[in-house]
Amino acid sequence: MCGIAGYVGYRNASDVLIDCLKRLEYRGYDSAGIAVANKKLSIFKATGEIDSLRENMPKMHGSAGIGHTRWATHGKVSKENAHPHISCDKKIAIVHNGIIENFKYLKEQLEGKGHQFNSETDSEVIAHLIEEEYKGNLEDAVASAIKNLRGAYAIVAISIDEPEKIVAVRKESPLVVGAGDGENFVASDIPAFLGYTNRVIHPNDGEICIMEKDSIKFINEKGKELNKEEEVVNWDIEDAEKSGYRHFMLKEIHEQPSTIYNALTGRISEIEPHVELEDLESDMDEITITACGTSFYAGMVGKYIIEKLARIPVSVELSSEYRYFGRKSGTVVAITQSGETADTIGAVKEAKRNGCNTIAITNVTGSSITRITDFSIFTRCGPEIGVAATKTFTAQIAVLFLIALKLGMENFYLRGDELREYVSALRQLPSRLEKVLGKEDEIAGIAKKLKDYDSIFFIGRGVNYPLALEGALKLKEISYIHSEGFAAGELKHGPFALLDEKTAVVAIVAKDAVRDKMLSNIGEIKARNATVIAIADESDEEIDKYADHVIRFPSLPEFVSSIPIAVILQLIAYHVANLRGCPIDKPRNLAKSVTVE
Ligand code: F6R
Repeated sequence: MCGIAGYVGYRNASDVLIDCLKRLEYRGYDSAGIAVANKKLSIFKATGEIDSLRENMPKMHGSAGIGHTRWATHGKVSKENAHPHISCDKKIAIVHNGIIENFKYLKEQLEGKGHQFNSETDSEVIAHLIEEEYKGNLEDAVASAIKNLRGAYAIVAISIDEPEKIVAVRKESPLVVGAGDGENFVASDIPAFLGYTNRVIHPNDGEICIMEKDSIKFINEKGKELNKEEEVVNWDIEDAEKSGYRHFMLKEIHEQPSTIYNALTGRISEIEPHVELEDLESDMDEITITACGTSFYAGMVGKYIIEKLARIPVSVELSSEYRYFGRKSGTVVAITQSGETADTIGAVKEAKRNGCNTIAITNVTGSSITRITDFSIFTRCGPEIGVAATKTFTAQIAVLFLIALKLGMENFYLRGDELREYVSALRQLPSRLEKVLGKEDEIAGIAKKLKDYDSIFFIGRGVNYPLALEGALKLKEISYIHSEGFAAGELKHGPFALLDEKTAVVAIVAKDAVRDKMLSNIGEIKARNATVIAIADESDEEIDKYADHVIRFPSLPEFVSSIPIAVILQLIAYHVANLRGCPIDKPRNLAKSVTVE
């Protein structure tokens, strides 16, 4: 997730852009840059936070410009990879947020025509494509260039030949236009320019926006002019940073259709079913996953998927235990959102000392874990601000899924039709998640029934067991209700003693080989007068007879449904905590990143 901005008006563009980028820093901040058009294009880029750009930037003159704050996906954190990217003749500059899936192909084509590239990014192809198409009119060149792009993008472009104009376009990446008086803005998100104007226009996919200081024009891909309505936003800056959501956690829960899309984009292909995961080696005989908290539960989900699809034995170890007591051999996969968790880093160092091959799955490029593991895979979620992990948990599962598919494919355990089915189901996840998020009111209603219980259990079998553990962790950390996750078959070995009418149980029931066993577990729980909320497959017609309330998730192949189920569990925890008036984004006694042992 990156942040982009563009400005044209009567002020100094670089000052405005720095301001906008600072407000977009929550989208990522490993490097940043600005391009301003005057007699020539002045460009300045720096690694680090926006403040480092501001402090080191020379005075830049000009009243139209573009800016970018980066959260690396393709290519390391460096000045060369920071945006804006420019054309060979140094007349056109672009900033981009998203992922261009076919950039390797486009780069080869453009190099064949003599274009020279200066970065490892997917984005740079856009500047060269626009240069190729430019015949004196920037919007026409942008319109022609985007016809070649596959993937997701929000782009803002500027040309020195038309220095008082900026052109922007989006497809499946956020972009919003701010209409001012004698000045106009465009950015990834409203907070970027809210200090200047609260009049906004939302471009749809494929609509091209042409802005000068006194005009905003929209055209469609065929060049036809469009009428767009302005909307007035009555948010203050703090509300706007949460995009109007009450808490960052809720905003991050709602971002999951796009974070899952980002985690998968460019890594799976449906046409010729295929998984590409950077340079992941496939010769692994045994895997140990090590992590803490929510990342540990993602690792447990991963174990079920990898063992089934790739038939490689996986053990999952808490980093704080593994570091001192674990068996250190084979490949060690460390999962850590922050990349800074002391226990996980300690575990990896120990594994390395013992000669293990080490891989990190993390959300933060340049974090400590990426500097010590042999190889890193990024979850591409953008910064997570709520202390309770949400979008990064589901993205970690998505990445583990890709690892399982890749290993299964390369070790010839996964048949072509199975691979095709999984790839197609993963592709559908963003739209399926939208559907789950559409059930928020229903889930909030169920949260009302749960909010006064002293104790809530979460149960599941198979891959739904770690999801039950995660559901319980999410609820306890933000609502302070005592909650526990259990493998459903284990209740009778002890926890049953706690069940009575003051206990509620959330049961995850998939249409899998153990569904009947889950139904008998629910019967046993009901016999002890506890309330049962079932999270069940939408095609399960019988479940209403067993549970007091049912929340349904979309029917998807085995394992793929873990992601929608996780989102339902997050919404339950969020709404229970909200009804109890808890400080959701900053729960007591907890920190986002635990850098002490
Ligand atoms: C719970 C939560 C924590 C983290 C854990 C590991 O919502 O966020 O349990 O998952 O502290 O953190 P990372 O993934 O940064 O290593």
